Amino acid sequence: MEFQAETRGSRRARTECAVVGVRDGGTLPPVAASLDKALGGRLSRVIGQGDFSGRLGETLLLPDLGSGPAARVLLVGLGAVKSWSRRSYRRALAAATQALLRSGARDALMLIAAEHVPDVDPYYRARFVAEAVGGGRYQIPDLKTARRPAPPRLKRVRVACADRAELAAAKRGLAHGAAVAAGSALTRDLANLPANVCTPSYLGTVAKRLAREHRTIRTRVLGTAELKRLGMGAFLSVTHGSEEPARLLVIEYRGGARGAAPVALVGKGVTFDSGGISLKDPPGMDEMKFDMTGAASVLGTLKAIALLGAPINVVGIVPACENMPSGRATKPGDIVRSMSGQTIEILNTDAEGRLILCDALTYSRRFRPAAVIDIATLTGACVVALGQHMSAVMSNDEALAAALLAAGRRAADPCWRLPLADEYGEQLKSNFADFANVGGREGGAVTAACFLWKFVDGMKWAHLDIAGTAYLSGANKGSTGRPVPLLVDYLLSQS
Ligand code: BES
Ligand code: MN
Ligand code: ZN
Repeated sequence: MEFQAETRGSRRARTECAVVGVRDGGTLPPVAASLDKALGGRLSRVIGQGDFSGRLGETLLLPDLGSGPAARVLLVGLGAVKSWSRRSYRRALAAATQALLRSGARDALMLIAAEHVPDVDPYYRARFVAEAVGGGRYQIPDLKTARRPAPPRLKRVRVACADRAELAAAKRGLAHGAAVAAGSALTRDLANLPANVCTPSYLGTVAKRLAREHRTIRTRVLGTAELKRLGMGAFLSVTHGSEEPARLLVIEYRGGARGAAPVALVGKGVTFDSGGISLKDPPGMDEMKFDMTGAASVLGTLKAIALLGAPINVVGIVPACENMPSGRATKPGDIVRSMSGQTIEILNTDAEGRLILCDALTYSRRFRPAAVIDIATLTGACVVALGQHMSAVMSNDEALAAALLAAGRRAADPCWRLPLADEYGEQLKSNFADFANVGGREGGAVTAACFLWKFVDGMKWAHLDIAGTAYLSGANKGSTGRPVPLLVDYLLSQS
């Protein structure tokens, strides 16, 4: 897909489809006035006749408009002026993109992108266009035997800018948006693949492929013997019941100054979470193939950052394994020693994410990171607390938490802060080891974070619980590609 930004002056060029936003109540925006005139007032007539109301997300394709400036016009509803926002702009773009990709147009001119959106600058207006087109074109790597529909014909998208001053920002936004979309697509592919394909070793080969594709990336994949040597008793305890060997992926991106402290991204890579001996209920258990989305978002974010050549150092650390029951599996009451030396009583084998992450956090210290962010589908309690709209962020550092909240808001991939406090950590008390791996039902997302906190050892750290935002259930079951937009935005803001 080719993206271009252009100003009003160059808009004489003919397009196969002009995409025009229309407000609720049917008012044509000023940017479409000259187009309407060139089309003999046809757009105002369609609206005047009541054929298009401007409801948010409504679309109407006017095909076959002849040899004027636009062969087609796609009207897109923007909704009411008073609720016009970043969110409604993105929803209008998503709807427009769907209609555009269904049409026969090979190129499009997004006049909608010249629209003023409160709190959204020209960079983000363009970036969201590229993200919408990338997201709209995404196809699940399914194994359906029916023939695939023909791919969309759209090859080129031009974004209209209000004036020349906006041009550079819009171009940057398009490049960044295309990279975010490519990174999210990798994350979605990996998360959507079934667990019998996307195994820990499979994630290892994908990480190695990233290193082959980008000379700024170096990947190492550690196996069971090395994990034993490192003393990762907590991580290894989760893999005991599985026939699939565990892997630790270490992916270094070097775009910044030599010796500049990297940001460490630690992603939970449980390729299937059955719960282990504390077996989960059957309904919805298939969705535990998504339990490696934290890992997938680390790979997707590194891909996006490498595509952009961002001037920053990042290290991705991914503990990957299955959580399965068997005669060899870890049992409730078993006590293990983590790489940090602290002992853990495993009261529930379904609280496995924290067990693999704690050793990965300890491992991350050797990179002397400027900040460590772990990303995990960690708790059902987080889904209860925040639902599917926002990820949870918990942090021991005010500035880091604020930066992540702001990045999420800007990127329209929002998160919300939950507390991190000693009184919650006290729920992890054990009579037999330094602490237990669960702290009861109350405040489950926070006690999980408190568990990880015990392994952070003075680093600046944030924990993102993405259990609610990583994937959708039901008819639209599938990975969302979150929180790649948030993470890329955060890293760009640090570079
Ligand atoms: N992977 C799950 C968390 C999860 C639940 C993710 C629902 C997405 C949707 C995690 O490993 C888990 O099982 N957590 C337990 C923890 C409990 C035993 C303390 C949970 O949330 O029930
Ligand atoms: Mn679990
Ligand atoms: Zn899990």
